[in-house]
Amino acid sequence: MVINSVINAISEKGYAIVPDFFSVEEVDTILSFFNHALQEGHFRQAGIGKEQEKQVQTSIRGDRILWIEEDMTPFDTLFYPRVQEFMTALNRTFYLGMNAHEFHLALYPETTFYKKHRDAFKNTDARKISMVMYLNKDWQPGDGGELALYTEDETHIVKPLAGTLVIFESSLEHEVLTSNKPRYSLTGWLKRQDSLFP
Ligand code: OGA
Ligand code: NI
Repeated sequence: MVINSVINAISEKGYAIVPDFFSVEEVDTILSFFNHALQEGHFRQAGIGKEQEKQVQTSIRGDRILWIEEDMTPFDTLFYPRVQEFMTALNRTFYLGMNAHEFHLALYPETTFYKKHRDAFKNTDARKISMVMYLNKDWQPGDGGELALYTEDETHIVKPLAGTLVIFESSLEHEVLTSNKPRYSLTGWLKRQDSLFP
């Protein structure tokens, strides 16, 4: 089962890669939603930092994003039930107490990147697990936009190929290398929200 191998890989290395998390049809379904939302102008420049201190700094991060809700089609049937399964299985193994999640679509326009960062600091932030699903159908070496994962032992490079899921501990350092073409993904976090009124 996919979830078991994901759990094993996360315990061993802190990350796991699932090459065919989304089928070709599922990628197409998400991409048509993505392109429609882009045309409607629903994306905005992503920021860095927390709520009030949030600021746009394209020298650190150049993507444009759109947050998606749990009841939004096609994610309601195609995606969120699987997120729930992952969250349950990961909680059972790692006692992370995750009870919430948030996901956005992300477009990295040509020449943009996201410098080396962590999505959370161990034992402090709500974000426990990061998930990125790539939607780039004809990605070629040279197109750039690879994800570099920095573990204690290695630097692992992930190609942003359509259908691939990369899932990792949010405390792991990582970086989106410069993309030479528009780069599409669905990205999000499994979280532990201690209060109902954060
Ligand atoms: C992020 C991030 C990785 C990717 O959004 O925090 O690191 O490959 N994304 O898009
Ligand atoms: Ni990140």
